Amino acid sequence: VARSAKLRGVNRDEIQQRKEEIERQFGPWTAMDIDLGHGIATRTGAASASGSGESSYRHERSDWSGYSPTSSRISRIVQLIADLARKPISELRILDLACLEGGFAIELGARGATAVGIDGRRGHIAKAEFARNALGLPNVTFAVDDVRNVTRARYGGFDVVLCLGILYHLAERDLFPFARAITDCSDHLLVVDTVLTIEAPESSIYDGRTYHGLTTPEHQAKASASEIEENAWMSIDNSTNFLLSRFSLYNLFTDLGFSSAYECFLPPVLGHGARSTFVAVKGARQTLLTAAHLAAEEERYRETDSGASDSELHLVARELTRLRRNPLAAFWSFFRRAAGNALRRSRR
Ligand SMILES: C[S@@+](CC[C@H](N)C(=O)[O-])C[C@H]1O[C@@H](n2cnc3c(N)ncnc32)[C@H](O)[C@@H]1O
Repeated sequence: VARSAKLRGVNRDEIQQRKEEIERQFGPWTAMDIDLGHGIATRTGAASASGSGESSYRHERSDWSGYSPTSSRISRIVQLIADLARKPISELRILDLACLEGGFAIELGARGATAVGIDGRRGHIAKAEFARNALGLPNVTFAVDDVRNVTRARYGGFDVVLCLGILYHLAERDLFPFARAITDCSDHLLVVDTVLTIEAPESSIYDGRTYHGLTTPEHQAKASASEIEENAWMSIDNSTNFLLSRFSLYNLFTDLGFSSAYECFLPPVLGHGARSTFVAVKGARQTLLTAAHLAAEEERYRETDSGASDSELHLVARELTRLRRNPLAAFWSFFRRAAGNALRRSRR
């Protein structure tokens, strides 16, 4: 769709000129390398299918700096939507929250979806709208808005809501009402791509439920308004965020009313730090027809102390908690295990 719609009535020089104007006003593209045709791409000098080269943007967090595998992230999202949505992409309404330069919405729009992208930074939306116009995609719209303002009354309902790279930028007070509001906008799939925390010493109560996580900084305490604006991948105003633990995210999906949730492993996204992509599905909750005994209470993940043998994740969390509480005992337990393994190897 994109290739035939591309550049209808817009010539190469106009696109190049408009791109340079936007870059003068808002700086170069930081993440999304969109092929605009005519040998022009938003980030690389010439359009290339592989997309993501070195990012010109230096991220505050050193472990993410210099590399932004955006094209592989877009491939993952397109694939999982194609595989899991109930309709073809061309029939879907898709909401892209905190859309940055619009790469996800534009790719999905190029496949015929009706896509709405929202971001709080004017410069990102100017770039997204420019690429949308260059590609001739009237089915893709963008808005400068705070994602915390998103409601079904304001934007409508969507087959797929993309919540990519934004949950972990929100402050504790905003995270849960935001999750509730975007769940309300989702008619089927909510895709969450997020950073999680293993260490979850803090708790937060929302709607009578307790969630665990960790508060970490967004911007330097003394950051000016213009520094916050330029810190283009971070929050638009809050100075701290609240990272959820994996188990609390699972519980949140349940509490929001999703009937099941999945973690995406393929297509792979390499080099993007400790983050995961989850798909929560709004389906009909099933009750068993043949169980002789139904649990009186729904089962619920707890951080470390229940289901301790349910998965390697529980085991890691339990070990970390032990290590924090009693480093010496944890050391001896590790030592005994290592010594036992060495002895077994030597007997083989
Ligand atoms: C890490 S980037 C993620 C971009 C994209 N969704 C992705 O996954 O690649 C975070 C984006 O969220 C935007 N943002 C942060 N806080 C926001 C808010 N409260 N409302 C709207 N946009 C926000 C930033 O401007 C930035 O574009």
